[in-house]
Amino acid sequence: MTNINLAVIYYSSTGTNYQLAQWAEAGAKEAGAEVKVLRVPETAPQAAIDSNPAWKAHAIEAACIPEVTLADLEWADAIIFSIPTRFGNVPGQVKQFLDTTGGLWFHGKLANKVVSAMTSAQNPHGGQEQTILSLYTTMHHWGAIVASPGYTDPVIFGAGGNPYGTSVTVDQDGKMKEDVKEAVKHQARRTAEVAKWVKAGLTQ
Ligand SMILES: Cc1cc2nc3c(=O)[nH]c(=O)nc-3n(C[C@H](O)[C@H](O)[C@H](O)COP(=O)(O)O)c2cc1C
Repeated sequence: MTNINLAVIYYSSTGTNYQLAQWAEAGAKEAGAEVKVLRVPETAPQAAIDSNPAWKAHAIEAACIPEVTLADLEWADAIIFSIPTRFGNVPGQVKQFLDTTGGLWFHGKLANKVVSAMTSAQNPHGGQEQTILSLYTTMHHWGAIVASPGYTDPVIFGAGGNPYGTSVTVDQDGKMKEDVKEAVKHQARRTAEVAKWVKAGLTQ
């Protein structure tokens, strides 16, 4: 059996995407992957973080999670991103990190990574799919293989199921409005399985 390394790379201000990342970790481990949960470095000014109690609390909670590095991208056969929407787009923190990957890209080190993405938003039609697709644009430039969930499991037809990648809506207090745990775990297992197929093919 092919063993794969899977990085769950997330950004979260108020904890939603950290929770999604933890469920993805569980799903990927069920599929036998070696998993690292990694945090995209925060770039917001401390004053902005301190002005929002939920953001401040999560920043303290997440301080022990390792920050993602370029070496982690090289290590990973598969990557699951979990990021909140920002005006229907990728958060600046994530874009900042992606923009440091030019050297790896130039040397062909990002090609054939198997990737998928998850997101959250406050409005039911607040840009979930656009956020995922914006991230996938960069993945196409990497030469990554996007393993979107599609409709590969009945769970996609239920809460949070989204063929582009799991998405969840949060209320004003940051509470998830749908129970997306099983959709996340399915997506993680699928990303890991596709990575095994690809890695097996590449190492033949
Ligand atoms: C600057 C900014 C822009 C946002 N833009 C949107 C948006 O376009 N649509 C939406 O539904 N929610 C939007 N939100 C809400 C966030 O997506 C929501 O707080 C986030 O998904 C929660 O995830 P987290 O707990 O992991 O940080 C925005 C929040 C911020 C701070």
